[in-house]
Amino acid sequence: MTEAPKKLYIKTYGCQMNVYDSERMAEAMGGQGYEQVSSPEGADMILLNTCHIREKAAEKVYSELGRYKPLKAANPNLMIGVAGCVAQAEGEEILRRQPLVDLVVGPQSYHRLPALEARARGGEKALDTDFPEEMKFEHLPTRPKPRRGPTAFLTVQEGCDKFCAFCVVPYTRGAEVSRPVSRILKEAEGLVEQGVREITLLGQNVNAYHGDAGGETWGLAQLIRRLAAVDGLDRIRFTTSHPRDMDDDLIAAHGDCEKLMPYLHLPVQSGSDRILKRMNRGHTAEEYIRLVERIRAARPDILMSGDFIVGFPEETEEDFRATMALVEEVRYGQCFSFKYSARPGTPAAERPMVDPAEADDRLQRLQALLTRQQKAAQDAMVGRTVGVLVEKPGRLPGQVVGKSDHLHAVHMTAALAPGDLVRVRITESAPNSLAGALV
Ligand code: 5AD
Ligand code: SF4
Repeated sequence: MTEAPKKLYIKTYGCQMNVYDSERMAEAMGGQGYEQVSSPEGADMILLNTCHIREKAAEKVYSELGRYKPLKAANPNLMIGVAGCVAQAEGEEILRRQPLVDLVVGPQSYHRLPALEARARGGEKALDTDFPEEMKFEHLPTRPKPRRGPTAFLTVQEGCDKFCAFCVVPYTRGAEVSRPVSRILKEAEGLVEQGVREITLLGQNVNAYHGDAGGETWGLAQLIRRLAAVDGLDRIRFTTSHPRDMDDDLIAAHGDCEKLMPYLHLPVQSGSDRILKRMNRGHTAEEYIRLVERIRAARPDILMSGDFIVGFPEETEEDFRATMALVEEVRYGQCFSFKYSARPGTPAAERPMVDPAEADDRLQRLQALLTRQQKAAQDAMVGRTVGVLVEKPGRLPGQVVGKSDHLHAVHMTAALAPGDLVRVRITESAPNSLAGALV
């Protein structure tokens, strides 16, 4: 008689890399007889894959854990684990603050999760926040072979050596490490066999990629060109990039690699040179603007995306205006903006904070401008013909939804299935999506 599968519920917070990590953890626990479920009720194991980037994200973990108290009371065998960047940053503190937690695992130790689970089942509070020598991905079981949706993430690089003064990533994810080309290629080919047609290459600093290619070291552009030769893989994207690592080859790839999509997330954080310096970004506003010009010269229709922080310590109204001026000049198609959040252990956390009401006001002004630009970029698609990869059925009968080359959601009424890649004429721009018709 075979045992019924145990139920694993994973809740994922934060960035796309956590989404990828959660998938890989589910696969690893699959080997231990666990099957992933979509609700915590009745689960045998709950894993929170957490984010530490801003205070709000980190605090959510504790309120979520509190909600599991009745579940644990009803099922003493329920195992509760905390993974991800909060696990790395707070470690044992989590076990002290929330006794419900049975295991804590940092982002570089996921390949040890099955062993940790066994220890926790034995009644121990299990904790692993090491930065082991071996790379977790090369020690995690390979992905199983069921059909998948048409898009997937693939982590190629992790960690960061840039040490921006506000950011916890270099501490929670560790030093920059790149996976070897052969492993990435094998994983990509496996994904394509499972029905994936678009892969987004992930890394905290993805364009710092420098992976081993049989004795040579390849940069991200070389990796992308090699992946572009994989039959059946139609679209490649990557995120997140640092302006200082946008080398000539990668800029050129945006012009000459057809499978590389015309969308680039290139955070600048601020438009003030004084603040950029205090943030330890290693470039000026002018250098960033010139870089965007070069990227647009290679791929004129590229849609630029970015991240901004307002209210960074000592940011004045004049500094903020420089950010607004940079945004006006770059014209973004998509943007993410945040109020500065002091993170323990980072250099900026020691500096005087901007008045919170002032920071709120700046955030509102910046977001209003970014929203206008986003809408303008989306409206400008009307009348154009773009590629759309169908992802799922739409809400209306006969309708499907997909993503355009520029990453806009596009609705169409057509007899299409997920995975179909079609040419579509955009006919309409709604608040959060486009509508189009097959050409
Ligand atoms: N406060 C606010 N925003 C932050 N980010 C990173 N650290 C902080 C912080 N301490 C933002 C940056 C980064 C994005 C992922 O999150 O804009 O690019
Ligand atoms: Fe954080 Fe990105 Fe700066 Fe690295 S480059 S420290 S991940 S904001």
